[in-house]
Amino acid sequence: MATEGRKPLISGNWKMHHNHFEAIQTVQKLSYQLTSADYRAVDVSVHPPFTDLRSVQTVLDADEIPISLGAQHCHWEDKGAFTGEVSPLMLAKLDVAYVIAGHSERRDLFGETDEMVNAKVKAIIAAGMTPIMCVGEHLEEREAGVTEERVSSQVRAGLAGVTSEQVAAMVIAYEPIWAIGTGRTATPDDAQAVCAAIRKVVGDAVSTEAASAVRIQYGGSVKPTNTAELMAQDDIDGALVGGASLDPDDFSRIVQYHLAE
Ligand code: 13P
Repeated sequence: MATEGRKPLISGNWKMHHNHFEAIQTVQKLSYQLTSADYRAVDVSVHPPFTDLRSVQTVLDADEIPISLGAQHCHWEDKGAFTGEVSPLMLAKLDVAYVIAGHSERRDLFGETDEMVNAKVKAIIAAGMTPIMCVGEHLEEREAGVTEERVSSQVRAGLAGVTSEQVAAMVIAYEPIWAIGTGRTATPDDAQAVCAAIRKVVGDAVSTEAASAVRIQYGGSVKPTNTAELMAQDDIDGALVGGASLDPDDFSRIVQYHLAE
């Protein structure tokens, strides 16, 4: 795991699952399972759909639960004629701490480009929140041996014009697309190799300070049974969890990987 100074961040991306009643129940059950020792060891965020954010925020606030609220997406403009979109300022007003930018589902299904991801990263930071910028290769790219090239170009484009201090405080999630929701996980060695390559690109493109401070998550079929070995890798500082984060028992076991250390 993670060098001194990079506190692990385990994030649950609920995608388009859980209505606001289910979201409240999930976060409450999660809070019963997690202890102050867990929160000392690991930062935890949950990323429900937009319609759940206010309800989840109210529960976290009222019960003083130290789980950070996250969003899955936002627009880069503060306001305007963008039907269906949500602005970073609206999320910040709801005490959202982390916003995912450039998830592969947004890139592949909704046409998000590297330029859009870069605009969002800057807007999220400007609104006082932390971006979790996702990068990752398709199966054909992995098979063609261009994984690092693909991921490096996403990192460079996504971080263009972001300052060293800002990059140091943000999160990059490496999610190999072929491992998302498929039950296939990158081996810890493969995941480590790509995360190390990402850190190197940040060093080359931004600064060595930013490279040693930026937190890099792995995502793609993370489960209670594989978290500890992924988290044991030097350049993996957290996990971005999809399917297994919907169940509070599974997600709390993932957060509690640190007990096995
Ligand atoms: P799964 O954990 O379901 O593979 O999803 C990963 C992911 O896309 C998280 O953002």
